Amino acid sequence: MPNAWSHSRRRFLNRLATTAGAAAAAYWFTPGAFAEKLTQTPAQTEGPFYPDKLPLDTDNDLLVINDAITPAVGEVTHLTGKVLDAKGDPLRNAVVEIWQCDKNGAYLHSGTDNRQRSDRNFQGFGRFTTGSAGEYYFRTIKPVPYPGRTPHIHVKVKHKGRELLTTQCYVKGEPQNDRDGIYRSIRDPKQRESITVEFAPIKESRIGELAAKFDMVLGYTPQV
Ligand SMILES: [Fe+2]
Repeated sequence: MPNAWSHSRRRFLNRLATTAGAAAAAYWFTPGAFAEKLTQTPAQTEGPFYPDKLPLDTDNDLLVINDAITPAVGEVTHLTGKVLDAKGDPLRNAVVEIWQCDKNGAYLHSGTDNRQRSDRNFQGFGRFTTGSAGEYYFRTIKPVPYPGRTPHIHVKVKHKGRELLTTQCYVKGEPQNDRDGIYRSIRDPKQRESITVEFAPIKESRIGELAAKFDMVLGYTPQV
């Protein structure tokens, strides 16, 4: 019959073996050169304007509410990207949510500024579930500045009911970026770069539509 000492010692050794195994696994499965280049998307504050009441329409087209005829006012933007896990593998069935203010600086929130001037045709919030390549797509407007903030789109990523990332996406070349406290709070230039994307004119578009690509790398690898 083992005494208490040998029992606890055996447990200790088991634990040690497990730890050593985990360390070896971490060593042998260290991501390769490609994965090492991935920059984890930095988290940003959710801010006070996540909708306090979700709209009736929460699809990925923020320009048109349900089957309304009049679209929202703003520069039409096709926002696409991928959600990748920490290893660079696409994350399927992740729910990407975006929310942003309308052309007049009004959010879909009871406490928003400019509520009386809000664009009633702007959905203000949308959701998309990623496909097998981790891809998502939204049609929305190019974000505009409002007092105290450079233009940005709020983004949240959920997976199996867990919130994995809350961040904000910024417009490359926007002069107000460098004066924005929340943007500047990201110290790592690579991380800053990772959430600053080009809103580029689509050549074939006759109505001046823009395309923006925002890939997100999570500090998370789902359990298989
Ligand atoms: Fe905001």
